[in-house]
Amino acid sequence: MGGVKAVILVGGPSKGTRFRPLSLDDVPKLLFPIAGKPMIYHHIEACSRVKGITEIILLGFFPENQLSAFIEQSQKELNVPIRYINEVKVLGTAGGLSRYREQILQGNPDYLFVLHSDICCAFPLEDLLNFHIKHKRICTIMGTRIQKEYANQYGCLIRDENTAELIHYAEKPETFVSDMINCGVYCISPSFFDIMAKTTKDLQESLQNVTLDSYPEITKKGFEQGRLRLEQDIFVPLAGTNSIVVYPYVGFWRQIKNAGSPVYCQELYLSHYAKTKPELLAKGDNIIGNVVIHPTATVDPTAKIGPDVYIGPNVKVGKGVRIFHSIILDETEIKGHACILYSIIGWRSEIGFWARIEGVPNYTPFLYSQDKRKGITIIGAGAQANGEIIVSNCIVMPHKQLDRNYCNEIIL
Ligand code: GTP
Repeated sequence: MGGVKAVILVGGPSKGTRFRPLSLDDVPKLLFPIAGKPMIYHHIEACSRVKGITEIILLGFFPENQLSAFIEQSQKELNVPIRYINEVKVLGTAGGLSRYREQILQGNPDYLFVLHSDICCAFPLEDLLNFHIKHKRICTIMGTRIQKEYANQYGCLIRDENTAELIHYAEKPETFVSDMINCGVYCISPSFFDIMAKTTKDLQESLQNVTLDSYPEITKKGFEQGRLRLEQDIFVPLAGTNSIVVYPYVGFWRQIKNAGSPVYCQELYLSHYAKTKPELLAKGDNIIGNVVIHPTATVDPTAKIGPDVYIGPNVKVGKGVRIFHSIILDETEIKGHACILYSIIGWRSEIGFWARIEGVPNYTPFLYSQDKRKGITIIGAGAQANGEIIVSNCIVMPHKQLDRNYCNEIIL
């Protein structure tokens, strides 16, 4: 049958802690809307546009029922088979690929994409595939350059500029290694699975034979629990063996890690829409820049919206409201003259008249930054903010009643 398949590593709910309070609702992190579409819809849509794509597999350990409606709807809409493979336990980024090898390789695809779900970018998959075919190695990693000072928070790649070969891979190194980082987007040939099996066997043997100190504790522990990591356990030993090349990507890229990241990633996707799908963006006298408004939302014509806003299904926005750089989730009501800036307002919340809900943006690409004076304000589902209050740089757990001003607080 041949063709191309894609495997999206979706992980599971246990890693959702950095996404609180938004993951406390029924929606798993990977279906959280970014620029009006579930987080992994962007990945799936990009895969569906690749010529010769035969199947998209989501691989992870979410309960199947949390994803089934989304999968059904997406495969209808995008006209591509989508399958969920539910890992029996946490197997790691390479463990699941190894364990479900036969299912993944069913139909004998010629090439496969492997994508992390927790990233946003333009997914230049056709280009990546052509690069992979041209270089004839078992794996191509998409790399991008970022500011030097943040590079060591990611997987760092050293690439031979003439041959594109991956010479050295260091996952989150302590000192500077390279400003080219792993984007979490790969193209592999089926033989990658054989090399992965061999590398795993070698690792297993050396873990049995060498002294405990020779491998980092995390490798041993993960391995004992049956976890295998693509980055540290496979790419590190394969670097410099003429097996992997690095595709240099120039374009937007960002990780989606904590609850505030959808606001930054939405901005990137919306400006991408402006170039590629302008029909998705709202238009109107009081719409500024890139905005998506769900057709079931009602927005008073005197409200000034944008740039970089998503207004979800059945949201009501009153007179004179001002919203920018924010995500307003389903069935929320923003009453007259309220102001929402750099915030995410959870499902079914209510923001009172003249209230001001604001975040303090932090545009560094390093998303774990714990600078407490900066951040997107997050209001969990079903919260109610009284009129005329100011909530600034706060995280508010679901179903809270906010009846005074708050600043730099986590409201439990
Ligand atoms: P951290 O910075 O420690 O979070 O590492 P990272 O950003 O490299 O992320 P990680 O390697 O943990 O995950 C990369 C992608 O793989 C994400 O989309 C995860 O959801 C997914 N993932 C992580 N662990 C697993 C796993 O055990 N199984 C599956 N199927 N996916 C996983």
